[in-house]
Amino acid sequence: MEEQDVVSVHVEDGIAWVNFARPEKRNAMSPTLNRRMMDVLDELEFREDVGVLVLGGEGTAWSAGMDLKEYFRETEAQGLRGVRKSQRESYGWFRRLRWFQKPTIAMVNGWCFGGGFGPLFACDLAISADEAKYGLSEINWGILPGGGVTKVVVDLLPMRDAMWLTLTGDLIDGKQAAAMRLVNESVPLDRLKERTTEVAKMLLEKNPVTLKFAKDAVRRVGLMTYDEAEDYLVRMQEACNFHDKTDGRKEGIRQFIDEKSYKPGLGAYDK
Ligand code: ACO
Repeated sequence: MEEQDVVSVHVEDGIAWVNFARPEKRNAMSPTLNRRMMDVLDELEFREDVGVLVLGGEGTAWSAGMDLKEYFRETEAQGLRGVRKSQRESYGWFRRLRWFQKPTIAMVNGWCFGGGFGPLFACDLAISADEAKYGLSEINWGILPGGGVTKVVVDLLPMRDAMWLTLTGDLIDGKQAAAMRLVNESVPLDRLKERTTEVAKMLLEKNPVTLKFAKDAVRRVGLMTYDEAEDYLVRMQEACNFHDKTDGRKEGIRQFIDEKSYKPGLGAYDK
């Protein structure tokens, strides 16, 4: 298969629809797919016509995790050099996605296994189909959830849920994933794209510079003490002010206080 085929990209109305596109392999992440994802993120990150990135999957899977043949068996056969290279490539695009310039939404249509939790966590928000199925299948073939996955479930879930998924390899569906807060919400598959579009449009209305600082702050402050977070947030707001050449916050106050044309409690100011 050609490299460009394993990820599909379509930009429309400010939304970059990026899909895992190996449906015949249930969108398992091969080294080729991992390299391609990094290129795609590079291409999209600072495009002016992209305000939100949605990561979906073609066919019946979102992603069946790492490709057991190409990512594990074939790279192990190349020795440590091959293993480390393929780890760098996958962890690299997960990290790039976690700190992506634009807000990101995982749109989970189907299977999401193991390594798939990496990009799931990397996306800022996650909307699931009720029909989707999530599982840490690592235990079923004799490894621990690596590549950051154990960290993902411990960060996102209560300890009992993280432990349950890790030790049993049990599947949960979209509704259970939403109840557990692994994803934000779950809707029937036939409403998944519509709901994801609604959420993306909500984000597109906001100040794009502020969105980047706000999403980074949510990921960063967790490990800080209160005092550190307070200090960090003051400095980040000042950096945000510097980067926002539209002086959006002043405009927002002006439209509310002087013009009385909108209410910040009820929606975003007119950019
Ligand atoms: N790695 C490599 N190939 C895969 C993977 C994978 N993770 N998942 C599916 N495939 C391949 C199958 O080998 C098969 O290939 P073939 O047509 O050449 O035989 C093809 O995709 C279709 O897979 P089926 O099993 O036939 O599809 P089905 O819809 O019946 O089942 C399911 C889907 C449940 C996702 C199943 O494929 C499966 O269990 N996959 C493995 C899931 C997994 O454990 N992933 C690893 C998680 S751990 C980690 O990521 C570190």
